[in-house]
Amino acid sequence: MNPTQPKRRSRLAAKIIRRPGRSIALGALTVFLAGCSLESGPENGQNALRPKGEVAEKIDNLVTPIFWVAIIIATLVLIATVYIAIRYRHRKGSEDRPKQIHGSTPFEISWTILPAVILAVVAIPTISLIFDLAEAPKDPINVTVVGKQWWWQFDYPQQEGIKQKIITANELHIPTGRDIAFDLTSCDKSLGTVDENAACSVIHSFWVPELSGKRDVVPGHRNTLTFRADNPGTYLGQCAEYCGLSHANMRFRVVAESPDDFAKWVANQQKGPAVALADAGDAENLFVKKYGCSGCHGTMDSSQSVYGPNLTHLASRTTFASGYYPLNRANLIDWIYDAPSLIPMESKECRLPPPATCVGMPSFAKDTPPGMPTMTRTEAAQLADYLLQLK
Ligand code: CUA
Repeated sequence: MNPTQPKRRSRLAAKIIRRPGRSIALGALTVFLAGCSLESGPENGQNALRPKGEVAEKIDNLVTPIFWVAIIIATLVLIATVYIAIRYRHRKGSEDRPKQIHGSTPFEISWTILPAVILAVVAIPTISLIFDLAEAPKDPINVTVVGKQWWWQFDYPQQEGIKQKIITANELHIPTGRDIAFDLTSCDKSLGTVDENAACSVIHSFWVPELSGKRDVVPGHRNTLTFRADNPGTYLGQCAEYCGLSHANMRFRVVAESPDDFAKWVANQQKGPAVALADAGDAENLFVKKYGCSGCHGTMDSSQSVYGPNLTHLASRTTFASGYYPLNRANLIDWIYDAPSLIPMESKECRLPPPATCVGMPSFAKDTPPGMPTMTRTEAAQLADYLLQLK
């Protein structure tokens, strides 16, 4: 231990006591700057105070007035606390004590009734909005969200406009001006999404700050959520419930597009792969036999629900690894070769093929799964080139 440390600490403490004004000013400035994301501030893409859809607007319209009510109450309480502390402080040489009182019926009644009235007033719009948001939307697009460790599966069941089930990952396409009704789960037998391992035994939370509030994604349980995007654009989402090593990397994107563009996206997702696995040359052998990628990833049919993300139309996405890396050749090669070096994953002592014991992609460069050869960069490139053709 450094012997000068306690001394230093006490000097710092003395400084703070001698000059409390400076410390208070610095603290206040920090808090003030932490809130610097006003209307005119930079667009960070994850600002719940800049709603971009009907549901988010309703929530914002409730939060803002209640925030100001809370600020007024907090300010009055703070002023009263500081005033009383100064007014009735102990003074040197004076033995006077303020007049001691116990119990005041008017005060007792008023500070019971006043908060009750304020809470009742706040409750009226709050409860009415809770019921409003819980109402089933009319003519929605249905999407099932499945939280995995650590990525998102978006599953569009067969419905009007979607002739055949679509399963995609991490990039959710929606049409503008239409309610999207979500079923959310982390593990659900009725959906056939139960993975008999740890990868679906944790709670996630689905959150697109600009479009709606959060909703927990719970194993073996279905939650619902509805939102709508008014304008085309890409909205950022994030897992908002701690779910293990790569919780912070568990991102996703909502791509809102015109109904026509959405229909084009649907049509493309329902096509077969741009390159059939059988025509993929050496990549077929690597993908199926040598490294067993096909045990976890489907590339032949976008309605296939498998252990890892469905890759039938991987190249139609802009990102991969739960929205963490831009999809390009260099990133994809690095990922295939040694994914755990790019994002923390529990893939040591990985056993493949499924039921896999690892959570996340194994490394094919080191600590390879038992019985599996070490991959070369050339092989990783061959696999990447095959996958990048799957538009
Ligand atoms: Cu999933 Cu945090």
